[in-house]
Amino acid sequence: MRVGILTSGGDCQALNATMRGVGKSLYNLLGDVEIYGFLDGYKGLIYDEYRKMERSDFSGILTEGGTILGTSRTPFKQIREPDANGLDKVEAMKHTYRKLRLDCLVVLGGNGSLKTANLLSEEGLNVIGCPKTIDNDLYGTDMTFGFYSAVQVATNAIDCIHTTAASHGRVFIVEIMGHKVGLLTLYAGLAGGADIILVPEIPYDINAVCKKIAERHASGSRFSIVAIAEGAISKDESKLTKKELKKKLAEDRKNHPSVAYKLAKEIEEKTGAEVRVTVPGHTQRGGQPVPYDRVFATRIGAEAARMIKKEKYGVMLSLKNNEITTVPLADIAGKLKTVDPDSGIVKEAKMLGISFGDEE
Ligand code: F6P
Repeated sequence: MRVGILTSGGDCQALNATMRGVGKSLYNLLGDVEIYGFLDGYKGLIYDEYRKMERSDFSGILTEGGTILGTSRTPFKQIREPDANGLDKVEAMKHTYRKLRLDCLVVLGGNGSLKTANLLSEEGLNVIGCPKTIDNDLYGTDMTFGFYSAVQVATNAIDCIHTTAASHGRVFIVEIMGHKVGLLTLYAGLAGGADIILVPEIPYDINAVCKKIAERHASGSRFSIVAIAEGAISKDESKLTKKELKKKLAEDRKNHPSVAYKLAKEIEEKTGAEVRVTVPGHTQRGGQPVPYDRVFATRIGAEAARMIKKEKYGVMLSLKNNEITTVPLADIAGKLKTVDPDSGIVKEAKMLGISFGDEE
């Protein structure tokens, strides 16, 4: 069998662990297999840039962050557009796949990348998707690899901020990745003991945020920690149309590098508190995968190989009730998993007195 593999979109921890799972299991299950690794995501498939992988490529990479194949973002919107030289990217990918006489292609990707994977599947290629992203925002799976490793990094940032915030009696805002979804912020915020958690799915009222800070101060707490998702929006912003919001956020970015800085200024003005901002940024995608991700990635990789043996294509591996299963790519492409404001986890956080900035 001839199998292609690529890693696409923003990197995360456990990409290598997943490829190791696929590679080692394929050699064990099939014996006779040739694996072609495309370089820098879909770019490699479009421009015929790949390397034939050896068994040894899959050894010693379980704990390595990043991706040994490289990755890049090729937004879905641009996939159907010709490149600068007029090349049809979809046709080019089909051509590379056929030229190498591949039996299937394994795509390790998040939302955009799996949308492209679904497109290729509709175009007749045999594709298997593996759920990658620190954001854990993929529909159809309880978990994505990278998530818990990023939670670990973001939580560590909040932990470190705790001691300095307490020493100085300051308000600290920690901005957490996740694009337009707040799952990473919710988990890191809870794990790090944040007092206020602001996520895009629960638009916040600045007055509620300031009230919570004032209440903490009045009850003797010298400091407050706010975990804010990079995509968090205020109640007023949530009433805007998509177009208006885009314009407003672009305007805001001219004055503040990110949402956390804008919030810091508002809190300072309204409460007089001394506020500082920390943005762990891409550290959240870096370093070694945590044990959970290593195990999950290994399981995903093994099951991807089993699907290849069974010739079951057009699916994404997914976690449901702690078992690895599959969902059709067509059912998940373009859909997001988000924080449900009525979910148990949000309610439980509120029981502890954590504010989501939505109190009346
Ligand atoms: O999707 C993963 C992610 O890290 C998001 O949380 C973040 O918004 C985005 O990627 C950052 O992308 P880039 O690395 O292209 O700046």
